[in-house]
Amino acid sequence: MKIGFADVRPTGDYALVLPVAGKDRKSLASLGAAQQAVGSALDRQRFEGEGANVSEQFVDDNGTIRRVLVVGTGNGGNAEQAAEKLGGTTAARLLTSGEKKAVIDVSSLGYDADTAARVGLAAALRSWRHDRYRTKLKDNQKPTLEEVVVVGAQGAEQRYRSRWAAVVEGVSLTRELVTEPANIIYPESFVERVKASLEGTGVEIEVLNRAQMEKLGMGALLGVAQGSAREARLLILNWNGGGKGEPTAFVGKGVTFDTGGISIKPAAGMEAMKWDMGGAGAVSGALKALALRKAKANIVGICGLVENMPGGNAQRPGDVVTTLSGQTVEVINTDAEGRLVLADAVAYVQRNYKPKTIIDLATLTGAILVSLGHEWAGLFSNNEDLASDLLKAAGESGDKLWRMPLAEPFDRLIDSPIADMKNVGPREGGSITAAQFIQRFIENGVRWAHIDMAGKAWSDKPSSTYEKGATGYGVRLLDQYVADVLEG
Ligand code: BES
Ligand code: MN
Ligand code: ZN
Repeated sequence: MKIGFADVRPTGDYALVLPVAGKDRKSLASLGAAQQAVGSALDRQRFEGEGANVSEQFVDDNGTIRRVLVVGTGNGGNAEQAAEKLGGTTAARLLTSGEKKAVIDVSSLGYDADTAARVGLAAALRSWRHDRYRTKLKDNQKPTLEEVVVVGAQGAEQRYRSRWAAVVEGVSLTRELVTEPANIIYPESFVERVKASLEGTGVEIEVLNRAQMEKLGMGALLGVAQGSAREARLLILNWNGGGKGEPTAFVGKGVTFDTGGISIKPAAGMEAMKWDMGGAGAVSGALKALALRKAKANIVGICGLVENMPGGNAQRPGDVVTTLSGQTVEVINTDAEGRLVLADAVAYVQRNYKPKTIIDLATLTGAILVSLGHEWAGLFSNNEDLASDLLKAAGESGDKLWRMPLAEPFDRLIDSPIADMKNVGPREGGSITAAQFIQRFIENGVRWAHIDMAGKAWSDKPSSTYEKGATGYGVRLLDQYVADVLEG
């Protein structure tokens, strides 16, 4: 989607979008003679100007018949959210409408540059689609909308180009990785897809294969991968935009398909486990966004990429593996594989990059869905400042987080009689014991946050910034954290 900005409405053919905040219909004045007819149509439709109220009309706009969309932005509330809803609603409504161009006139709203730029951001995000495997789309199901122009806020274009255009690219990469099925995206092809996507951005890429990880002693990650014909990879992405100093580390769970392994999952719904690489997808997308907008920060992104399959060579319940840290793990349940992957990934980044801060993202537990549903991801952290910075970034970015506890009594639940720890605790507090497990691999003095995003990578209902499907969760959160804390 091409996103443009202008001071005044262009001439020519386009659908005009007029935002209306509650009862305040002053934006309709620009329709001239048609204002009254549009206003009475709104009354008859019982249009109240609430967020996401839409009225579609064909209007004689000073001599041309034009499609006019009156979109409610609500009264009060958060202007950034209202702006994103306006852009997203417009894109959703017009994407396959037959219109090629939409002009959203926000001049009546008094938006600042960033708020107006977010109208464009949401329009771009909301119009993302993945039609690669749909060979039989009818003409009227195909997108027609090519361009959205936001009219009436100074500085919005500059703001959009310097910040949000990059975020759109990052989120789109994440969604693509998450949406692709597991016969297309597996560890090797994940690496290739990310490499191609990051070409020319300045992100330095390093990849470890199985032999290299074996030599290092990454027995936990490799234990998960050993049942699969697809070889594991560790993908390392470096963005050095902030001069000297240790990088902040982002670590992602990249299980390209999670059958559960020998502790196999039930058949119903298993196809969802193609998006068990959502954490790694978010890390890759965030690095792309940060590099494209030349963020003044040093970031290392680590993606632990494996496929969790049953098979003759798969690991068994009861197996003991030795992790990169030297600690041993009794694998009680081969379906608790994400923590095994993360254990070695966080050990690797600490050994090689000495980060002071690590943020990991993972579709880690079904238990977090029981706790928080699909609205919030769970945040676990050993550091109050880091937790509060992330909660703030969550509020600003819309990638919501809710703090969950860590405590010694939970840690005791993963002690093992045969090894240093086991990979599962009891059913109760399942997402907490999973976090406790990862914490055992965090060295003293390192600030660490774990984000359990199992309820967030995929959505069964649309929002202002995504259609049903891959959400791109995590990219905006990490981008906002970098902007606030590392660049701020
Ligand atoms: N990838 C799953 C978690 C998951 C479940 C993500 C549902 C998204 C939706 C993870 O690897 C897993 O299987 N976790 C188990 C852990 C259990 C065996 C302790 C779970 O949550 O059931
Ligand atoms: Mn699993
Ligand atoms: Zn998993």
